[in-house]
Parts: sequence; C-alpha cells; structure tokens
Amino acid sequence: MKIKKIGVLTSGGDAPGMNATIRATVKSAIAKGMDTVGIYRGYNGLIKGDIRPLGMRDTTNIVQRGGTMLYSARCPEFKTEDGLKKAKQMCDKHNIDGLVVIGGDGSFRGAADLSAIGVPCIGLPGTIDNDISCTDYTIGYDTALNTAVGMVDKLCDTTTSHDRCSVVEVMGRHAGYIALNAGISCGASYIILPEHKFEKEDLFNRIRKATELGKNHFIIMVAEGIGNVTELAEEIEDVTGIESRATILGHVQRGGSPTVRDRVVGTRMGYYAIKLLSEGIGNRVVGLNRDVIVDYDIQEALNMTKKFPEDLYNIADELSY
Ligand code: ADP
Ligand code: F6P
Repeated sequence: MKIKKIGVLTSGGDAPGMNATIRATVKSAIAKGMDTVGIYRGYNGLIKGDIRPLGMRDTTNIVQRGGTMLYSARCPEFKTEDGLKKAKQMCDKHNIDGLVVIGGDGSFRGAADLSAIGVPCIGLPGTIDNDISCTDYTIGYDTALNTAVGMVDKLCDTTTSHDRCSVVEVMGRHAGYIALNAGISCGASYIILPEHKFEKEDLFNRIRKATELGKNHFIIMVAEGIGNVTELAEEIEDVTGIESRATILGHVQRGGSPTVRDRVVGTRMGYYAIKLLSEGIGNRVVGLNRDVIVDYDIQEALNMTKKFPEDLYNIADELSY
C-alpha cells in the first residue's frame, strides 16, 4: 500500500531530542511527497481530532529545543477498545495512512494495536530512561544524563566544602541507566539501582571504610523508586555520624536543549521511520545497535530483554573509595 499522508505524535514522558525527531520525520516525509500532520498530546489528540497540517516551515528552529512542539500526554482511554476505535476513525477521517509514534514501551503497545487494525505505525524510542530493550540508546538519554551530571557537579562543590554526604535521587523509571552513568561521571561513592540488591549495611560499611582511607565527602547516587532518600540521608547521618542531605533532581532532568547525540540520533531515526513507511512497512520499532539503525516487529521488540552493563557497575564499585 502506498502511504500518502503520515501523522506524527509524541507520547508518554517528553524527552529532549523529540523535536529534532519530529523535524526529521516531517522533512523526510515531505521530501518523499507525503503530506504530514502533527497529532497533539499523544493518543489524546488522535482520539479528539487535535490534528493539524505540518509543512516544511513548521519545524523551523525546533531542532535545538527541549520538550516537544506536539506536546505529550498519557491517554488511558486509548487502551480501551472504544478509544482505539475512535483513534482509527479519526485516522480515516483525516486520511492518515501511516503514523510515527515517538515514545516508550507503552506508546509502542498502542502503535502495535493501531497497526493491527490497519494504520501502519513506526515506533521511535524517545525517553530519558534508556529502558527500551531493542535499542542501545533512546532519544533524550544523553541530554538527561548531562543535565544530571551538571547538577551533581554543583552539589559536589558544597558537599565537599562541608564534609557532608549527599544522597541524590535521579530518574530512570524502573531502570538504573541514569543512576549508573551519572554515578560514574560524578565519582559517586555508592550507586543504588534496581538491577542490584541493596543492603544498607553494605552502604554504611563502605562509607566507614572510605572514611578510614581519608575520604570526607560522599555522593550516594540513587535511582528513583528504591526508597525514601530523605530517610536514607538521616539514617546515614545517625549511623556514620557524617552530616547528610538528600537531593531529588526530579523533572529538570527531562528538560533543556538536546545534546548533539540526541539531535543526531533523533534525526537518523525520524528519517528511517519515513523510509520504512514509504516502503509500505509498518508495525516496527526503530533502534540503534552498535551505531547502526535497525528495526524490529513491535511485539518482538517488546518481548526483548536488555542486558544491564554489569562491567560498568563493577568498575564504579571498585573506584568508589
Ligand atoms: P511510555 O510510552 O513512555 O512507556 P506510557 O506507558 O505512559 O509511556 O504510555 C503512553 C501511552 O501509550 C499511554 O497513555 C496509552 O495511551 C498508551 N499505552 C500504554 N500502554 C498501552 C497498552 N498496553 N495498549 C495500548 N496503548 C497503551
Ligand atoms: O519515563 C520518563 C520519566 O521521567 C521517568 O524517569 C519517571 O519515572 C517518569 O517519567 C515521571 O513521570 P511523570 O512526568 O508523570 O511524573
């Protein structure tokens, strides 16, 4: 089937580089003679019909911007049979015969559902968490990491000046990629993440031993969802006697101008999505493996598992004193 008109949407948590991806998608589609529309606020826009044409000049000056010009949202209604039906009707009404969905695993499930009822979709991995199994890299991860590291560097100045311990919580949903790489980049004394069982005694012993070796300031990097970092800081202070503070970096990690890596990967993936759709191929997720752009059947991609970089964790552990 020849695809004449494509839609693009961003779904789930926003990520820096989504705009670069939208720009590449729109420009590549137009270059191939397709009409393009933007669908606003994820699957909500598809259900409600918040759909507007996107021309060549509508993506001007967005490549360097964080966030997403199409806005993003979570849309519980889309998961229902009725919601999916409405979305399909809206595609028919607007003659959308191909869709690029930039988001995470949840968004890809929706893309698979739509593909199954006749709207070929391509999923592009956009999330700061880097938690999508079929790809080494997700759009937004590098910017978020650099933002986190920049903030922890600042925190480290004051932590050092006061001989304190800072317990820092970073994002990552259920994955520890940000915690691990930010931890290494900031010289953290300890990294707590979901992929490794955490024993408080081990942390306290590590701090005690490092103190004996002359260390007097500590960064403890914690992936979100592990527990309450304020309570952990209080416990560290009680047990070790080292004055401790907790910092939750929060949503600032999702913002900011995308790094070169996020702009380039987003651009490559957006271009590739249109290449697939122009060949009449749908129901695929795009990934980056060893710097090569690849694609998988959506269900196959969702069933994959990702190997956590144990070697990197072990290096961080050895260097933590
Ligand atoms: P992400 O795409 O970042 O993983 P979510 O899990 O919040 O984010 O999913 C984003 C949106 O994708 C949801 O609000 C919903 O509209 C859609 N979605 C999520 N899970 C499913 C599912 N199992 N089936 C269909 N659509 C889904
Ligand atoms: O998936 C991106 C992410 O920022 C996660 O790191 C975090 O767990 C979640 O989204 C936060 O979601 P919300 O913006 O709904 O608070």
